Amino acid sequence: MTKMYSRISGTGRCLPERILTNADLAQMVDTSDEWIRTRTGIERRHIAAEDQTTTDLAEGAARQAMEVAGVAPGDIDFLVVGTTTPDVVFPNVGCLVQERLGIGGFAAFSLEAACSGFIYALSVADQFVSSGKARRALVIGAETLSRIIDWNDRSTCVIFGDGAGAVVLEPSDEPGIISTHLRADGQYKDLLYHPYGTSKKQQADDDEQPFLQMKGNEVFKVAVRRLESIVDETMATNNLERGSIDWLIPHQANLRIIQLTAKRLGMSMEKVIMTLRDHGNTSAASVPMALDVAVRDGRVNRGDLLLLEAFGGGFTWGSALIRY
Ligand code: COA
Repeated sequence: MTKMYSRISGTGRCLPERILTNADLAQMVDTSDEWIRTRTGIERRHIAAEDQTTTDLAEGAARQAMEVAGVAPGDIDFLVVGTTTPDVVFPNVGCLVQERLGIGGFAAFSLEAACSGFIYALSVADQFVSSGKARRALVIGAETLSRIIDWNDRSTCVIFGDGAGAVVLEPSDEPGIISTHLRADGQYKDLLYHPYGTSKKQQADDDEQPFLQMKGNEVFKVAVRRLESIVDETMATNNLERGSIDWLIPHQANLRIIQLTAKRLGMSMEKVIMTLRDHGNTSAASVPMALDVAVRDGRVNRGDLLLLEAFGGGFTWGSALIRY
């Protein structure tokens, strides 16, 4: 029997209308446009409206991706959403998107891998589509991180933004998704986390507020090392030489982290898709949104070799090598 692959047949994204610039943030906390730009590479980010949820953004991105792929909601038979900011504890965002699209009767779920959520979701969906267990999968990364940010904390509030990106995966005789690589290491749980949930604590107390907590400097160092090792592993597994990737589509966390990963791969920054300046760090949404930007503006074309990678709280990290 010939091996089957999954391939991306459509991409989409959805960003909230409201834009928060560095200048806006300088009115809110003791920071400056110059500090944010030079330390992170971010100039602006989109922030969800008060009544806009992760599911709203996920639905918008999913509809665009299906339109490009030329598939109707009824054609979908697998749905997975990477998110750490679900609308509610349950139903999961996958079920909520199903309800919006008027479809059901197949597996729909969300998975929590922080900023690596989309890479994890893509890898899971790839296992189903390439093994013939699903025919058309919707894979979404969607976040409303603005809801868990302390807007008085200058060390975190300047970094994050909201948005969603989606792809449709379909079976193909040729790659497609060539390989995915997932990793996690829970020993770093205290460097980047959100202290509230359901079984630990649900109400704010004086010690720890219900906001994202990050030791930025330490996260930076581990992120660089782990991303270097995952891109090395991806290249080695596929017998690829440095410089053979057409486009690097990295998680958009920090310009300096991305530059170091590109250097490791022997790639110039012209070959790296950057959306950080306009979107900030949108966690699980950042990689699929960057892919969609590059497909729509004509940089990424059919046949190009893409390397997607991400790193996030947990820590989790991962990569996907894709012949687009
Ligand atoms: N504006 C102005 N000053 C700020 C500031 C802001 N928004 N945020 C922090 N500072 C100050 C700090 O208070 C500190 O001041 P001090 O020296 O007087 O104590 C100084 O800037 C340096 O802080 P530090 O945290 O060491 O800065 P940094 O160079 O490490 O940059 C990050 C901070 C967060 C930009 C950087 O660590 C980073 O990007 N880390 C990775 C984070 C990440 O990618 N997270 C997501 C992973 S998915």
